[in-house]
Amino acid sequence: ITSVREIYKNREKFLDKKITVGGWVRSVRGSKNFGFIVLHDGTYFEPLQIVYHDKLANFEKISKLNVGAAIIVKGMLVATPKAKQPFEIQADEVSVEGASASDYPLQKKRHTMEYLRTMQHLRPRANTFQAVFRVRSLCAYAIHKFFQDRGFVYVNTPLITGSDAEGAGEMFQVTTMDLNNVPKDKKGNTDYSQDFFGKETNLTVSGQLDAEAFAQAFGKVYTFGPTFRAENSNTTRHAAEFWMIEPEIAFADLCDDMQLAEDMLKYVIRYVMQEAPEEMKFFNSFVDKGLIERLEHVVNSDFARVTYTKAVEILEKNNDKFSYKVHWGTDLQTEHERYLTEEVYKKPIFVTDYPKDIKAFYMKLNEDGKTVAAMDCLVPGIGEIIGGSQREDDYKKLESRMDELGLDSEGYEFYLDLRKYGSTRHAGFGLGFERCVMYLTGIGNIRDVIPFPRTVGNCEL
Ligand code: 4AD
Ligand code: MG
Repeated sequence: ITSVREIYKNREKFLDKKITVGGWVRSVRGSKNFGFIVLHDGTYFEPLQIVYHDKLANFEKISKLNVGAAIIVKGMLVATPKAKQPFEIQADEVSVEGASASDYPLQKKRHTMEYLRTMQHLRPRANTFQAVFRVRSLCAYAIHKFFQDRGFVYVNTPLITGSDAEGAGEMFQVTTMDLNNVPKDKKGNTDYSQDFFGKETNLTVSGQLDAEAFAQAFGKVYTFGPTFRAENSNTTRHAAEFWMIEPEIAFADLCDDMQLAEDMLKYVIRYVMQEAPEEMKFFNSFVDKGLIERLEHVVNSDFARVTYTKAVEILEKNNDKFSYKVHWGTDLQTEHERYLTEEVYKKPIFVTDYPKDIKAFYMKLNEDGKTVAAMDCLVPGIGEIIGGSQREDDYKKLESRMDELGLDSEGYEFYLDLRKYGSTRHAGFGLGFERCVMYLTGIGNIRDVIPFPRTVGNCEL
């Protein structure tokens, strides 16, 4: 079976030859003694047109095919210079692999994203999702390629863990206990000693701490895997299960970290624009007008850099525009992030050196004693896409920060150990993979860039 992609990419090889293709019917237009089928096999954004005639024994049956039917077609590929599509297949044979019932929910008209979200198993067949999920796949490949070409080692960090990498307490617990009969210890607390792992465990919120252990052995590493957060945020940018890419580099500071993040994003944008031009054109026309021009500008200019303190000065002057007022010490909300990147700088920016009290325990304390060597990368349309930092590499300082925050050092002993045996200056970041796909496609809701989304109150399929 020849794929539609091969046919489009290698047309000379197939023109005027007999070929066999398999795919799903997008539409059938039958007339008295001939008809057209628009066929999609998922390998290429453009469909393939089939012409069939009444010389075929099953002519009547073909004309009655419903949208969604799976068929195999044998015939000659001929050029159609006068038509909209560059070629078509003149069918010698159309065999029906699987008919489609007449209540098939995806018809030729445009459906809303909300409607398509109610059928997560069928929506990958719709044009928009064909484009989104091919871009998602290419984007993943580009990220691997970027890091592998630069000598990074890919580390698979565990999904079940005993520690809270962000110290934010937003974890899904993992247990085999009978929840109707939870054993208690003498103090009345849950007794995990009888549980599967003999201790309290959860799904990982980030692979960073484990990645740091590998960075202190391999120098440059990255993770790429699912992470889980029980955040009760019902927004267009939060999912309970999302994928994250977390590079970690030894002998590097915050500047190196930002440079790496900027290089990576530019590489991924370039790669996807080059490898998925049809999909990008589609997004540019139907999802987000101006997308391509904007992305081209991003790869050809430098990201802006601003300290948190400076950013707050700018935002404070515009507090009348925000529902949450900003002052030094408040965490930036999406509305503030988007204002900075969309209205002030009009391109991606790094905000650096946040107050220590609104950032995670592992970030390196700056000399002012108030801020940490953190960076968030904010992009127009989304806000935060990357969060990263230089890590505290001093044993004593890290230990006292953990004490300050009341973090139980049990569970973090390995992490402190890294500061005991050959500690290095090091830094890393986390790229939210879905937010990256949203940025590249212009899709406005995280539920539409992950195949089977999990969000507050939603775990279908
Ligand atoms: O800023 P975050 O929480 O940083 C970390 O987890 C660090 N351990 C990363 C590191 O330094 N290695 O998360 C990183 C990114 C965010 O910038 C955002 O893009 C994405 O992960 N993210 C989410 N994406 C979708 N749904 C959620 N609930 C997300 N929470 C974070
Ligand atoms: Mg963050």
